[in-house]
Amino acid sequence: MPKDTVSTVCHRWILETLDPEGVAVDGTAGNGNDTLFLLQHFRKVYAFDIQQQAMETTLKRCADFQNLIFSLSGHEHLKDIVQEPIQCAVFNFGYLPHSDSSCITLPKTSVQAVQAALDLLTENGTLLMACYLGHPGGKEEHAALFQWIRTQTAIQLRSYCPHPGGPILYEVRKKHPL
Ligand SMILES: C[S@@+](CC[C@H](N)C(=O)[O-])C[C@H]1O[C@@H](n2cnc3c(N)ncnc32)[C@H](O)[C@@H]1O
Repeated sequence: MPKDTVSTVCHRWILETLDPEGVAVDGTAGNGNDTLFLLQHFRKVYAFDIQQQAMETTLKRCADFQNLIFSLSGHEHLKDIVQEPIQCAVFNFGYLPHSDSSCITLPKTSVQAVQAALDLLTENGTLLMACYLGHPGGKEEHAALFQWIRTQTAIQLRSYCPHPGGPILYEVRKKHPL
């Protein structure tokens, strides 16, 4: 049986409370793996990436779907584009594999983006964040995101880390404040 990865666990957790009538966001489209998955399961998907190459790959890969709104802009501008409640948001941070490894997600804009996603999330909606620590800047970004998670009160949190020092997946589920 194939081993679990951060990506397979991420998709499994999304399916646990899936609302097929819902709207989802892929904050880092990259090669379109998560965008394609979301399109197969949600009514509408917004995807973001700052690289032209990522946009072209994702649009080609997802050409069979009409329900994708792609934005060639930073996820920190999420609220300018997404102006409706969302059931799910996925962020796969770091850099695009086999591409320009200097084009990475950054602590400040990553935190802005996940805060915007959490604000738009419906109750029990899910926010998935995959963090990578191995590239320059990865540890700092993870520290900033973890600090942000620690300040959230109306959430339920779980995480998955297949091996120490490897990628870490966080799921933040939105709960009503007490
Ligand atoms: C690890 S890759 C994403 C992989 C993708 N989820 C997939 O399924 O192939 C990270 C992506 O984040 C993008 N990125 C970097 N900064 C960004 C930003 N501020 N807003 C949106 N995307 C960004 C990079 O261009 C890169 O494609």
